[in-house]
Amino acid sequence: MELDEAIAKRTSVRYFRDEPVSEETIEELIEAAVRAPTASGLENWLFVLFQSGEARRKVFDLIAEGMVEYYRTVNLPGEKIEKLRNRMYKEGMYRAPVYIAVFIDRRVRFLRGREFDDVEFMWSVESAAMAIENLMLKAVELGLGTVYIGVTNFQGIEEKVRELAGLDGNHYLVGLIPIGYQRDAVKPRKRRKGIKEVLRVL
Ligand SMILES: Cc1cc2nc3c(=O)[nH]c(=O)nc-3n(C[C@H](O)[C@H](O)[C@H](O)COP(=O)(O)O)c2cc1C
Repeated sequence: MELDEAIAKRTSVRYFRDEPVSEETIEELIEAAVRAPTASGLENWLFVLFQSGEARRKVFDLIAEGMVEYYRTVNLPGEKIEKLRNRMYKEGMYRAPVYIAVFIDRRVRFLRGREFDDVEFMWSVESAAMAIENLMLKAVELGLGTVYIGVTNFQGIEEKVRELAGLDGNHYLVGLIPIGYQRDAVKPRKRRKGIKEVLRVL
């Protein structure tokens, strides 16, 4: 598949078929992910695959908890939250055959001084996010759908995802990605802003 096609086709997929994703496919995704640029060549990313039924149920519950918290925080009315719950618990939104959580290891450092703590943390997060985009584009080529879950970064939830992954506070969750074969046809979402609005030429 041409890069242009993968970029144009990628869109967030939130409903998946109940069909496994093979380990070879997962390896292809991770191989694409780690081709991303990585600040200072640190490669301090870690990809945790949640594959067993129990692990997936727990991850799903944490996504659902985060999504409800998100809806509450943006003051959506109770009926919208009820609809969201329905979509998640009855219609299967966010239930995927596999989830990959992407962490960074905060102990791996190139710049030693404390004054670089924040910048190096950001660099690590940015590198992991670039790896996630590579993974998402590769997924399109392999006929898979993905969505970036950020609500699991909320305080109280991020720690639980980390614990589920068997990691301690030295790791930080950058994103959680449900992956699977999409259930329904999803049209790529249009952008609200045109190029002229987001490009400044000096
Ligand atoms: C950092 C980040 C966090 C996101 N978190 C969530 C999330 O928690 N739940 C969700 O359903 N989508 C989440 N998304 C997906 C966005 O809603 C989606 O990318 C956006 O609406 C544009 O749609 P598209 O991906 O189909 O182009 C997230 C995307 C990014 C980049």
